[in-house]
Amino acid sequence: MSTTWISPLLTTTLVGGPSGGVWMPPAASSEAGKVDDLFYFILYLSIFFFVLVVGAMVYFVIRYRRRSAGQRTSAITHNTKLEVAWAAIPALIMVGLFVWGFKAYMSSSVPPGDAVEIRVTAQRWAWSFDYPKDGINTSELVVPVGRPVKLTMSSVDVIHSFYVPAFRIKRDVLPNRYTVLWFQAEELGDYDILCAEYCGTKHSAMLAKVRVMGERGYQDWIDSGGGLSGKGLSSVAFGKLLFKSKACLTCHSVDGSKLTGPSLLNKYGALEALEGGNQVKVDDNYLRESITNPNAKVVLGYKPVMPTYAGRLKEKQLNAVIDYIKSLGRKGQ
Ligand code: CUA
Repeated sequence: MSTTWISPLLTTTLVGGPSGGVWMPPAASSEAGKVDDLFYFILYLSIFFFVLVVGAMVYFVIRYRRRSAGQRTSAITHNTKLEVAWAAIPALIMVGLFVWGFKAYMSSSVPPGDAVEIRVTAQRWAWSFDYPKDGINTSELVVPVGRPVKLTMSSVDVIHSFYVPAFRIKRDVLPNRYTVLWFQAEELGDYDILCAEYCGTKHSAMLAKVRVMGERGYQDWIDSGGGLSGKGLSSVAFGKLLFKSKACLTCHSVDGSKLTGPSLLNKYGALEALEGGNQVKVDDNYLRESITNPNAKVVLGYKPVMPTYAGRLKEKQLNAVIDYIKSLGRKGQ
């Protein structure tokens, strides 16, 4: 059943076509058009029957209103033809919608065998992406255009939900289990990734981007270690880049303002009061421990909610982040 005629017919007239519309962001994946076709078909079908039923109702209320005090209702039993028609026609439409929806659902649920495989890890409140073949870990999903991509997703804490509106894909990301999602991006560009399951304080800030690149750009990106090899950068500059790209900034300010975690301005060399009554001097080893095992020493007044970055930062990257934190100013040295 080909349904591509519906898209131009309906979406371009009333809602805007492939560049998006009043209700939908741009359709940038191979499955998005199928979702939109079905959505708009059901929408306009519902509007049609709403007008038909409510219109008939209003007409009958006026046409057959009680005209005098003594008027009796005429004795009608039933109309077999009419009753069969209004049971059979909606039933056929429902079956048609089911078959249509089921096909689209299966097609969006079963990834093609030749898909690029990427692992997605959700953790309050950031996404991280692993490219198992290439040893890359990023906080931005980079994919090639026109090739199927299979995401194998899991969470290390609570339930999140991976949602890319422009691709019309969304699936829960669970602890202790893998869920799978796939898409094929058809348009170059950056698209929003949202978390669609309330997961705590910073749920609404659990955002990321999916960047769709041409084949050549994608290969260059893979070859450069995901743009995070630090080649040609000073350690401090590389650390600053990582601080942003690894989403440290979501919770740690660098200007002294208090977020979910302590600000890192003027932290190096300072004495830090800890939960439990101890103190610690902020030095390289304490920073390293706080990045790889964040709950070992929790700063007084904060909750032990930071995700571990053990395994997500290579040695050179870890050093660069520490060098960057050092560069944010130091006390007592
Ligand atoms: Cu993760 Cu909401």
